[in-house]
Amino acid sequence: MKYAVVTGASKGLGASIAERILQEQFGLISVSRTDNITLKQLAEDNGLFYQHVSCDLTNRSETEQAFSSIAETIFSSTENEVLLVNNAGVVEPIDRAGNLDHEAIEIALQLNLAAPMFTTNLFLQKANGSKLTVVNITSGAAERPVHGWSVYCSTKAALNMFTKTVAVEQNHLGNATVIGYSPGIMDTDMQGVIRSSKEHAFQEVNKFIAYKENGMLRSTKLVADALIDLLRTDEVESGKIYSVNNLLK
Ligand SMILES: NC(=O)c1ccc[n+]([C@@H]2O[C@H](COP(=O)([O-])OP(=O)(O)OC[C@H]3O[C@@H](n4cnc5c(N)ncnc54)[C@H](OP(=O)(O)O)[C@@H]3O)[C@@H](O)[C@H]2O)c1
Repeated sequence: MKYAVVTGASKGLGASIAERILQEQFGLISVSRTDNITLKQLAEDNGLFYQHVSCDLTNRSETEQAFSSIAETIFSSTENEVLLVNNAGVVEPIDRAGNLDHEAIEIALQLNLAAPMFTTNLFLQKANGSKLTVVNITSGAAERPVHGWSVYCSTKAALNMFTKTVAVEQNHLGNATVIGYSPGIMDTDMQGVIRSSKEHAFQEVNKFIAYKENGMLRSTKLVADALIDLLRTDEVESGKIYSVNNLLK
């Protein structure tokens, strides 16, 4: 059986990835703090496996418990094929270093970086010969310093390096494929958070307001489709950080 585990599928990009994955006849396990009734209904209508696991991914023991239990289901047979999409993320704290809130830093480190490390580590431990593909959702901010985003840029840069390093290890073992996916700018709640920043905290705020006003934010469906179309080919290169901008060219 084919299973996909998607974090942050309750809305935004994660919801669109999950929806497309159901169309590809994968069973779906969605992990976030709130459920997505549309996905549940879609799975039910198509007779597909669906489970929502309520989990705060900033909490290590909750995350470990949730993913150990998920692993028991999805790695029950070596015939199973598993796709893990580490998508949940936060852009906050948005401010200059010197004004950053430490609790917000900790949350970003946990959600954007530690959680994908935990989930990848656990699944590699339990994969038991099953085909495993891990997609870490990153950002162009991983490669470009953005005023006010020192924490976000750092977490995504570290996530890219984690992706590349695990791929080197797995290339050696030949078991799992691990890639990054940079989704570009999309019309989600996260962009709303970005636009609500003060200019002293985020110098580029007016540029991001203009992206929205000029219809330059992509739909999450377009971005999700580009990812799944890539995964359907036999040309996925483990360790590569793919960008939607190149895939849609
Ligand atoms: N939007 C953009 O323009 C953009 C650009 C580049 C990269 N990205 C990346 O794309 C990914 C998705 O972003 P998005 O724009 O779709 O974000 P979004 O609309 O804000 O959705 C974030 C998702 O993460 C989940 N989440 C947040 N905190 C969580 C927690 N503590 N525990 C579990 N789940 C949590 C949320 O679910 P619950 O609230 O239900 O828990 C939600 O499903 C992120 O990794 C982001 O960094 C986005």
